[in-house]
Amino acid sequence: MKAAAKAHTNIALIKYWGKRDDALILPMNNSLSLTLDGFYTTTAVEFQNSLSADRFYLNGRLTEGTAYSRVTAFLDRIRDVAGQPDRFAEIHSTNHVPTAAGFASSASGFAALAAAATKAIGLAPNEQELSMLTRQGSGSACRSIYGGFVEWEKGTEADGSDSYAVPVAPADHWNIKVAAVILSSDEKKVLSREGMKRTVDTSVYYPAWVASIPDDLAAIKDGIMAKDFEKVGAIAEANCLRMHATTLAARPPFSYWQSTTISIMQAVQDLRAGGVPAFFTIDAGPNVKVLYTPEYEETVRNTLRHISGVHDVTVTGPGSGVSYI
Ligand code: PMV
Repeated sequence: MKAAAKAHTNIALIKYWGKRDDALILPMNNSLSLTLDGFYTTTAVEFQNSLSADRFYLNGRLTEGTAYSRVTAFLDRIRDVAGQPDRFAEIHSTNHVPTAAGFASSASGFAALAAAATKAIGLAPNEQELSMLTRQGSGSACRSIYGGFVEWEKGTEADGSDSYAVPVAPADHWNIKVAAVILSSDEKKVLSREGMKRTVDTSVYYPAWVASIPDDLAAIKDGIMAKDFEKVGAIAEANCLRMHATTLAARPPFSYWQSTTISIMQAVQDLRAGGVPAFFTIDAGPNVKVLYTPEYEETVRNTLRHISGVHDVTVTGPGSGVSYI
């Protein structure tokens, strides 16, 4: 009744932004991500007869509050599927994410937890089933089941039975670089869950966002297969800008950007004007991820590191899917 797994985080090139079902975590639109090598979570789960409730240790510390309740609620689904409602587990999870790397650990965290917990309780889901289950812990986590480039199909069924990730191209298909640019200050932010809801409910730009996805997705997949970096980068950057535009048109309006975020975006566009193909993308926070190809490593790193307000730059590349350890 014990198992351990490792999963990497991922960065969306076509963003998941907006739910059609909050409880089942069903998205309004398909999304596409790259699983990243540098940032991962390892999780060990052991079901013990002596326990009358789950115990969840994160980075060595026993948790309570929201972190704990999200994990137990997720384990409830697994207990339900396994038909073992009264089995509780001790969970040890460690995030291997460089200090303040600015990546949400929920993607790697729920993917590793889903893999370890299902195995520990005696289930043997295939990758599709595992992705579907992981989705119900954290939406973007369902993409971390696979390595490399991954699409999350939104599906059309009300029960979520056709909403899961599918692999597009493996990690070794294409060595592109992702620099995580971390800002010095981290103001209180609107959580992705809350930001999505407000945008879906009130933003006049939201329908245009949803309508823009199919063309972006088809084009970026062509670009990935052809290893056309400029095409992939340009689509990812434009898609990111459109996602963030929806928040500006919400009521009340909001933005995840800080002044340094905008400085970095401009620096990336200046790099391009100077002949260096680099593109940015930004999630539900102020930090920026910059995409480029290995030959521009020096130039891109040096440029990003010297922007005022930048705290740290960590470089990574394509990573593999979930694995047992
Ligand atoms: O899965 P969540 O609730 O962490 O939401 C992720 C939303 C974005 O990071 C902004 C986009 C994405 O597709 O990862």
